[in-house]
Amino acid sequence: MKNIVLTGFMGSGKSSVGLELSKKLNLTFIDTDIEIEKDQGLLISKIFEKFGESYFRDLESNIIKKLAVKTDYIISLGGGAFCNQANIDILKSNSLTIYLKIPIEIILNRMTKEEIEKRPLFKNIENVKELLNKREYYYNQAELIIDTSDKNIVQITYDIWDYIKN
Ligand code: S3P
Repeated sequence: MKNIVLTGFMGSGKSSVGLELSKKLNLTFIDTDIEIEKDQGLLISKIFEKFGESYFRDLESNIIKKLAVKTDYIISLGGGAFCNQANIDILKSNSLTIYLKIPIEIILNRMTKEEIEKRPLFKNIENVKELLNKREYYYNQAELIIDTSDKNIVQITYDIWDYIKN
């Protein structure tokens, strides 16, 4: 089976859905942010602080290239990883790509202070809204788009499972 890739904005539930789906399908779960942190021995916030965003984006693209030759993984991407056309093309060539779509208002309501602090790009709320608007163009290239506004993790997982089955 091809990989299943979850994309969407920060706080859209990619990791929670990915974990749930990996249990349901009995496939290995990979979170690209966790892989990068393990590999670099640094938290994402520190990588941004020490080396800057473009360095982090290169690490993300490298992981995506490595995953392109694998199969049977459930992959949760960092929120910016699918916002680069080369990454999108690689991911779409070997994966079912899924966009978990959610309005910014719901994300802002859900995020705790700690969750915001973990994310360097989440510092300024006005910028965050603009960022999501700009990213829609990329996220919308996913094969499957699920509006998750009124769904919980179990329902979203079921929707994906149902799509795969058919
Ligand atoms: C980012 C999202 C984060 C993480 C980094 C940058 C982004 O991942 O990769 O802070 O550019 O949207 P999550 O989407 O898991 O929060």
